[in-house]
Amino acid sequence: MKAGDGSAEAKRRAGEAAAAAVEDGMVVGLGTGSTAAAAIEAIGRAVAEGLDVRGIPTSAESATLARDHAIPLTTLAAVDGVDLAIDGADQVAGGDLVKGGGAAHTREKLIDAAADRFLVVVDDSKLADALDWPIPIAALRGAERVVAGRIRELGGEATLRPAERKDGPVVTDDGHLVIDADFGAIDDPARLACSLSAIPGVVEHGLFVDLADEIYVGTDDGVEVLSGDR
Ligand code: 5RP
Repeated sequence: MKAGDGSAEAKRRAGEAAAAAVEDGMVVGLGTGSTAAAAIEAIGRAVAEGLDVRGIPTSAESATLARDHAIPLTTLAAVDGVDLAIDGADQVAGGDLVKGGGAAHTREKLIDAAADRFLVVVDDSKLADALDWPIPIAALRGAERVVAGRIRELGGEATLRPAERKDGPVVTDDGHLVIDADFGAIDDPARLACSLSAIPGVVEHGLFVDLADEIYVGTDDGVEVLSGDR
């Protein structure tokens, strides 16, 4: 499930502005989605001009894009740390996010949380007063009915994400299913995040609480950088 799309120009501005924070020698987490793609393309152009970086992709899609742009890739297992991660979001309220519109939130959270500095890149249509976007939840195959039941007990509406142009559900890069859990407006994201993490069979959920350091918000006129500590 993808959030309402802002303009391609606003996404490009946000992605390119965040890419400017990448410095020589850095290990960089490469996010997933159209806004993060703008950052990956900008990093690729900098690499072509001599920037020395190693990227850790958050999905098969971002790995392919990074390879297309000749960005050297590595893995979390092969590095001592991640200097910077740049990733998109489906919704932003304060410093908290809903992610997983591209079903990549398990690896995104792992890599974004591992980074010393996590920059979120969004167009201004993603900003909200409170998070109310359905939360993508990666579940083990075979656990979907049990997980959906637990989501309903927590007050959410659970929908197994259907694939497009394939019969059956979406299957993530790591072989999990995705349940979109609609809780309406979420008044305590940290508490809900803990409750979702505690459900047996849940691999990861798309609530990113207290992880973002800065939020680059692209508009048709420019980019505003918001602190993640809001
Ligand atoms: C993928 C994500 C994406 O970052 C999110 O869906 C935003 O995508 P876009 O920049 O295309 O709007 O979380 O799992």
